[in-house]
Amino acid sequence: MSVISISHLSRYYQVHQKEPGMIGSLKSLFVRKYENVKAVDDISFEINEGELVGFIGPNGAGKTTTLKCLSGLLYPTKGEISVLGFDPYQRNPKLLRQIALVMGQKNQLWWDLPAVDTFILNKEIYGISDEKYNTVLRDLSSLLEVKEILKVPVKKLSLGQRMKLELMASIIHSPKVLFLDEPTIGLDVLMQKKLREFIKEYNIRFKATIILTSHYMQDVEELCKRVIVINFGKIIFDGLLSSLVEKYAPYKKIKVLFRKYADPKKIDKLGTIDSFVFPELTLNVPNKKVNSIASVILRNFEVEDLTIEEQQVEDVIAQVYTREGK
Ligand SMILES: Nc1ncnc2c1ncn2[C@@H]1O[C@H](COP(=O)(O)OP(=O)(O)O)[C@@H](O)[C@H]1O
Ligand SMILES: [Mg+2]
Repeated sequence: MSVISISHLSRYYQVHQKEPGMIGSLKSLFVRKYENVKAVDDISFEINEGELVGFIGPNGAGKTTTLKCLSGLLYPTKGEISVLGFDPYQRNPKLLRQIALVMGQKNQLWWDLPAVDTFILNKEIYGISDEKYNTVLRDLSSLLEVKEILKVPVKKLSLGQRMKLELMASIIHSPKVLFLDEPTIGLDVLMQKKLREFIKEYNIRFKATIILTSHYMQDVEELCKRVIVINFGKIIFDGLLSSLVEKYAPYKKIKVLFRKYADPKKIDKLGTIDSFVFPELTLNVPNKKVNSIASVILRNFEVEDLTIEEQQVEDVIAQVYTREGK
């Protein structure tokens, strides 16, 4: 069943254009010029129950705008959205009780108070029963390992601790659908890992449907089978992460350390030489031929060491952005 459905969604922002300088400022008092920024430009996709989809793209691509439309904070300029059968912009409480938008940079916790006070406030807002609240509080605080810090004033906590509690405040109503916007931004490596584990666990345990944006490719690599890539407000890829890599990174590198001198002319036939300074060679070869070429090298040359380098997803994505951006 499709939980999220977006059909031809566009969202423009009107930005006031001012001519430079004093005269420009004066003119703009009388004649205001507006320009439409097409933050999201005719995108469509469907997401099924229980999917955990990576939504990636460079800065300014339109990710946050899309997530804000999905959670009902922004009205679409064009197109239709359905989340759990609701139009999010109607802000029906039945829907709001089942979704959450978590933004890495947003703070909702009260600075001077312990996090648990904010949770109680949210409990009231969402009308959660005592019994359910206590169960959720217990489950989430053990999953996130925050039991000891629930009652400490937020200002005394580290960024990582705060982020975990922010997340917890956003999902204290046990939403079935999560929009996670850069949830790991600015966190240290260990804390990123813990949050990733939590997201995975939440997804599995509650069959939650999750859209995740992140700058850290490791988040996406570890959590998401499917990725949707957006650039300049348009979707440029929607499919398996593995197919994205296959499509945009058809080459692998073979690194060879020779024991005896090898003739570059002979190597040249096997692939494209990336660099060759004896005794080290780096050769680019098509993915599909990696194994056969590696064995040809091993058979025909005296080799000390040979390694095949996987393409870094990070580099692949960077390639996608630059290629489609032009
Ligand atoms: N409130 C706003 N007013 C005008 N332009 C905006 C506003 N919010 C975002 N934009 C512009 O819309 C585009 C998409 O932004 P955003 O959705 O935040 O991208 P992302 O989250 O992928 O970085 C960018 O060009 C950004 O500058
Ligand atoms: Mg953003």
